[in-house]
Amino acid sequence: MSTALVDLHCHILPGIDDGARDLDMSMALIRKELQDGAAGIVFTPHFHYERITVEKFVEQRKAAFRQVSAAVRAEGLPLAAKLGAEVFYSTALPSLDLRKLAFAGTNYILIEFPTTMQPPGIDETLYAIRAQGYTPILAHVERYPFVTEDPTLLYNWVSDGCLAQINATGLIRDGHTARWLHKLIEWNLVHLLSSDCHHPAKRPPNLKDGFDHLPPKVAAQMKKNAIRVYLGDEIDPPEPQLPKYRFGRWV
Ligand SMILES: [Fe+2]
Repeated sequence: MSTALVDLHCHILPGIDDGARDLDMSMALIRKELQDGAAGIVFTPHFHYERITVEKFVEQRKAAFRQVSAAVRAEGLPLAAKLGAEVFYSTALPSLDLRKLAFAGTNYILIEFPTTMQPPGIDETLYAIRAQGYTPILAHVERYPFVTEDPTLLYNWVSDGCLAQINATGLIRDGHTARWLHKLIEWNLVHLLSSDCHHPAKRPPNLKDGFDHLPPKVAAQMKKNAIRVYLGDEIDPPEPQLPKYRFGRWV
């Protein structure tokens, strides 16, 4: 029996970020998620503290969620959904009201880093967030050049209690990223697979395809992890292994 899928990272809410433009697009994304076997979704619009206050963000997110919830009900779609955010990293995060940015009813908070350079203060900031009782989920860890250059950074964050999320797209597109992702998985440095979908054609929901590209055991574990995170339960991650640099490559 296949396990129900849960998408913990997506940009489905209408008109709030660079994801769905309008309600029609939101519903197209949701229908595809359901076709893929998704039973639950956390809506995670981008939050950038330098661009919007938490209060304003929460207000906009609520309005967008209302529209989607009404449309889901009207179509009678069997979907469980809750609110979250993809929080852009900043050393200011510990001073914000993280309760409003965490996945609703849980202590999980999705955080993304810039993809250009390693920002300052990551260790201290993640520590301060964890000290408030939250578990950071590091978004699409395959996308940061500073982590690819030195995966021991990720090892340290995971050893400290952070979880790591990867995008299905990286696994599906065979190539360098997929090979790298399989290494991260081997080192027990990945816990969650999500779609990060933005658009029905350009960045579509692809959870099922992503899971189909994982070894069955790993896929089963990650599906279970996503359900536990959705419910706010703790997950029991395997011991991370320290990547070692040998003969010019990470092994
Ligand atoms: Fe995202």
